[in-house]
Order: sequence, then structure tokens, then C-alpha cells
Amino acid sequence: MSSSLLLVLCVVLSALSGARGAPVLSAGEVNYTKCKALSVKLNEMARDLYHKVESKKMAIIIDEPPVSIRPIDTCDPWSLQSNNETCQSRIILALKNYTRIFHKDGVFNNLACSNWREQANEIANVTGHLLRVLREPVEAAPLDSVDWQASALCRDSVERLYSFSIISARVFSFLASPVAPTVEMKQC
Ligand SMILES: *[C@@H]1O[C@H](CO)[C@@H](O)[C@H](O)[C@H]1NC(C)=O
Ligand SMILES: *[C@@H]1O[C@H](CO)[C@@H](O)[C@H](O)[C@H]1NC(C)=O
Ligand SMILES: *[C@@H]1O[C@H](CO)[C@@H](O)[C@H](O)[C@H]1NC(C)=O
Ligand SMILES: *[C@@H]1O[C@H](CO)[C@@H](O)[C@H](O)[C@H]1NC(C)=O
Repeated sequence: MSSSLLLVLCVVLSALSGARGAPVLSAGEVNYTKCKALSVKLNEMARDLYHKVESKKMAIIIDEPPVSIRPIDTCDPWSLQSNNETCQSRIILALKNYTRIFHKDGVFNNLACSNWREQANEIANVTGHLLRVLREPVEAAPLDSVDWQASALCRDSVERLYSFSIISARVFSFLASPVAPTVEMKQC
């Protein structure tokens, strides 16, 4: 198919989905519009903190790193069209990790990271809110970190969160308004 034909098809598809009007959610369904708004907000907050938290002065081994999104989690638009469960369940695991890490009893509780504690707690509020919209329980078990490695741990957590937030914002933007992937999206 030529790319201009694909583009026409795309425009028609988006016009059709726009014409459906506000969808009504049935019980148990997830409001992806809300997920999109929250994940975009999370990405903005993560970027802001990424520019503030000092960089690591040393390398440390993270005992319990948050889960990351891998290619096998199929979070690309093609896979999401046929299967959104695999990607979404991985995102949920990561959101649970980040809620625990950024929560007030998490790694930012340490004195070495106290400058960013409030912003970190706000982030945990957003990840917790996102989990509730996804109908997932939020449990924030306290996390102990050793003092000497706390500042490096805070920086590491922010870097990981920032990368994760970019992917999750893309995924929820797609799920909120799925549009047939276009030729251009193949280059992502
Ligand atoms: C989904 O959430 C958005 C944003 O909060 C809201 O405007 C919309 O009415 C909700 N949609 C449904 C179907 O509940
Ligand atoms: C992150 O989640 C994984 C899988 O649920 C778990 O094994 C790991 O301990 C969690 N890490 C933190 C810091 O909560
Ligand atoms: C997080 O949410 C709780 C409950 O909604 C609220 O009391 C608290 O002030 C919020 N914390 C931040 C840092 O926004
Ligand atoms: C996610 O997948 C389920 C099951 O395949 C499907 O019913 C649902 O419409 C999908 N949701 C979105 C937003 O694509």
C-alpha cells in the first residue's frame, strides 16, 4: 500500500473514532483517557526531577531494581493492537515498584535525598493514582536503604523512572486513542 493511501486510511479511522462520541465504560473497564493524562503528568514530573537530582558520584549495585520495560513486553503500537495485556501487566509491576521507591517511606526518606522528598512523594501519589485507575491495589511496603549509598540510589531511581515514564506515556496515549500504526511509526 502506498504511504498516501495509508495516511488517508489513518485520517478516516481517526475521524470515525472521533465520531463515536464519549464512550461509556462498563464495570471493570479501565478509563485509558485518565491513564493517559496521569502518565503524561508522571513524565513531566519525572523529567523535572531528573534535571534536579544530583548525578551519582559512585556506582552502586541495586539489590532490588524496579522492573524495566523490555522488548519482549510488546509495548509497541503493533503488538498493543492485538494484545495489550502483556505490556500493561509489566507496566503495573513497574508502577508498584516506583510507588514503593518514591513513597514517603521509600528511598527519598533518607537525609541525603531530603531536598527532593516532597517532589518524590508527589510522584508516588501519581503512580498510586494510576494504579487505582488500572484497578490495581496499591501497597507501599517501607524500603530501607543504607545511608552511604542513598544519594546514588535516589539518582538511579530518578533515571529509571524517567525512562519508564516516557514509555508508559506512549503506551497509554496509544491505548486512549488507538490509531492504526502508520508507516512513520515504524521508525520509532
Ligand atoms: C474518563 O476520564 C476522563 C478524564 O478524567 C473523563 O473526562 C471521562 O468522562 C472518563 N470517561 C468515562 C467513559 O468514564
Ligand atoms: C519490584 O518488583 C519486582 C517484581 O514484583 C520485585 O521482585 C522487586 O522486589 C520490586 N522492587 C522494589 C524496589 O519494590
Ligand atoms: C499525596 O496524597 C495524599 C492523599 O491524597 C495527600 O494527603 C498528600 O498531601 C499528597 N502528597 C503530596 C506530596 O502531594
Ligand atoms: C485490550 O485488550 C482487550 C482484550 O484483548 C480488549 O478487549 C480491549 O479492547 C483492549 N483495550 C484497548 C484500549 O485496546
